Amino acid sequence: NGTSRVNQKGVLEIGGCAVDDLAKTYGTPLIIYDVAQIRERIQAYRNAFQFFQVPYALAYASKAFSCKAMCRLADDEAMWLDVVSGGELYTALAANFPAGRIYMHGNNKTSDELEYAVSSGIHHIVIDNFDEINRLVEILDKHNTAMQIVLRVTPGVDAHTHEFITTGTQDSKFGFDLFSGQADQAVNVVLRQPRLTLIGLHMHIGSQIFEAEGFHVASERMAELFSRTKVNCDTLEWFNMGGGLGIRYTKEDHLPPLEEAVKGLIEGAKRAFERVGLALPKLIVEPGRSIVAEAGTTIYRVGSRKSVPNVRDYIAIDGGMTDNPRLALYGAVYEASIANRMLDEPTMTVSVAGKCCESGDMILWDALLAQPQPGDLLAVSCTGAYNYSMASNYNRLPRPAVVFVERGEARLVIRRETYADVCTLDL
Ligand code: LLP
Repeated sequence: NGTSRVNQKGVLEIGGCAVDDLAKTYGTPLIIYDVAQIRERIQAYRNAFQFFQVPYALAYASKAFSCKAMCRLADDEAMWLDVVSGGELYTALAANFPAGRIYMHGNNKTSDELEYAVSSGIHHIVIDNFDEINRLVEILDKHNTAMQIVLRVTPGVDAHTHEFITTGTQDSKFGFDLFSGQADQAVNVVLRQPRLTLIGLHMHIGSQIFEAEGFHVASERMAELFSRTKVNCDTLEWFNMGGGLGIRYTKEDHLPPLEEAVKGLIEGAKRAFERVGLALPKLIVEPGRSIVAEAGTTIYRVGSRKSVPNVRDYIAIDGGMTDNPRLALYGAVYEASIANRMLDEPTMTVSVAGKCCESGDMILWDALLAQPQPGDLLAVSCTGAYNYSMASNYNRLPRPAVVFVERGEARLVIRRETYADVCTLDL
């Protein structure tokens, strides 16, 4: 996928850079991002919106992978940025990302985070609950200023099933519940606050979603709320459909091309608003995974092997749950290859273990690989989203380095942690 290929020496090459060279220069584990692929994914979203000629904002959910270089790339692509914490906001501002294209999410933004958001002049805050309305108004009073806001609504749709059991995600820690009337109540509270300008409604129904149906049902419910709200609110102009489009982690994941999937969402929203007699408002989408996941590849060095007679063969790598906790957390399934011997037939079934003191520290179970030897490079694909951003220093392992590759050039964007870094906060 993207710009990766196998070179004449049988080595995996990404963005025109051979991964054995990258491993030599930057060490392992190493996370490599194929920048051209990120740009392609962004373009797929843009094509879909341009096809319908609807006004839109394409935001990047920076929780998927945030660092200054990623924020600069998003800015370069004229994206908006969804931040969910003071730390993500700080990263964006440190990268000179324009505040006017940033908005903030979070189910428990602290007063400090709200103050930070207000004083930075970000475009809007996505309000999650009644306490937050009060807290934000207090801060705005103190600073004698006003803020644009969007309300996060839980439309009660289970994104992963055909049965839209209304109590499904109604029971969520996020947002105002639609069914019990909380969302309408929140609208009323906000409209009475002169310091708040309600500019939109937001939903996010889940992540790694393969079916459009959940989006359609949720859009219908949101369109109804939008139409009720609009009656008393001239400033309402945005419908944020959230993120959540799935990606292809393995050959077993079947899903349409990204552009088609996005078109499906827009089409569904259009129909939903037509049903309530409204033109489509300005749309926001805030994908994370579908922008960066497939562009990321993690390169590890194979270390020890262990064979349990008649049970299983293991190899161990120089990273693990510290840089990729997704198998341990979600049972995530990945595909991998021996990056320095791509032309060798994968003939050995082997499980890939990390180096942490924990049996659950696995990266792959029973993968088919080309007889891995100590010293080989293992490439695990689709590790661009929720990997580095969820990395930890468990066992005091330094976190890996991250490089961006594009047109044959590699650029270090996050340096590898040193042992001294690991102790840097210790007093
Ligand atoms: N908007 C909101 C409000 C969200 O909560 C999320 C993700 C997104 C957008 C971006 O969703 P995406 O397009 O990336 O699916 N750590 C988990 C995923 C957690 C997703 C959290 N919210 C994982 O590794 O699978």
